[in-house]
Amino acid sequence: MPTVDEARAWYPAQDPVHGYDHVLRVLHMAERIGNELGADLEVLRAAALLHDASGAAPGPGGGRKTHEQASAAFAADVLRGEGWPAEKIEQVAHCIRAHRYRGSEAPRTLEAMILYDADKLDVVGAFGVARTIGYALQAGEPVFAEPSSQFRRGGQGEAGEPHSAYHEFLFKLRHVADRLHTEPGRRIGRTRSALMQRFFEQLEAEAAGNDG
Ligand SMILES: [Fe+2]
Ligand SMILES: [Fe+2]
Repeated sequence: MPTVDEARAWYPAQDPVHGYDHVLRVLHMAERIGNELGADLEVLRAAALLHDASGAAPGPGGGRKTHEQASAAFAADVLRGEGWPAEKIEQVAHCIRAHRYRGSEAPRTLEAMILYDADKLDVVGAFGVARTIGYALQAGEPVFAEPSSQFRRGGQGEAGEPHSAYHEFLFKLRHVADRLHTEPGRRIGRTRSALMQRFFEQLEAEAAGNDG
């Protein structure tokens, strides 16, 4: 079984978005929901610890868009090295391949649904706000830029329009909690998402000097 100490070596310590801290939060949330729903905790823990292990950090090369595939392959190597049976390795690999919001593989098993929810719960709520701003800054984008009407209509920015943290909220984050798979995930997501919503509405109001 991969351990949290091993996982520390697979992730950057100082990355506020996809670093080791994120992985620990996902692990603990996956365990919490997994216990409530009676999931296979061995599969779930291995999947949580390995889910972003390869290519999740933003940067040149665009590897982030396929990091679920790369991380699933990396996980299979690690678990084969530990002597896991092929069937269990595939269960873990499926969880990892299916954890992306815009991914091509939908979660089919209880464990995959729980990993998906645990990962997405870390992008809504207080940590979600912090990580979204961290991601924008890592990518050289502003915290806030006024979205064009074209972006507000269809999510497609005009030429040269920055993709600010606020854009990411409008385009994706405000919908995430509605698309969770488990009952505990949806319950926790509602509270977290309400907080995030208030934050970004206030951000927009302050940017326009409309608050208070
Ligand atoms: Fe990921
Ligand atoms: Fe993640």
